[in-house]
Amino acid sequence: MQVYKTAPSTNVIEVPKSAFAPDERKKIIRAAGIGYDILLLQPPGSEPWAILMRCSHQDSALVALNKGFTCSMHGSQFEDSGEVISGPATAPLKKFKVSQNETSYLIQLS
Ligand code: FES
Repeated sequence: MQVYKTAPSTNVIEVPKSAFAPDERKKIIRAAGIGYDILLLQPPGSEPWAILMRCSHQDSALVALNKGFTCSMHGSQFEDSGEVISGPATAPLKKFKVSQNETSYLIQLS
């Protein structure tokens, strides 16, 4: 999965839609000053959303899979939505709202 590097401004990360290939549905966003990557998802027919790739168990960085996330520290698995599939994690991942305009996705950090 490709990584898009950027920096947030006033609690928003702007990601140009042109950063996605035509059939690409997920992209890892690496924003300066944020300790974990963010996965931006844009499935067809759904509103986009973003997930902080920090395990809710003990804050380890997650790996994004074709479907969902896995944590190499203790093996927790998560859905694309951030919900837990299997523990030891019990809490969902942090999810960010994403708005959009004609040219960009806007990940709302707060
Ligand atoms: S830190 Fe991710 S499962 Fe423990």
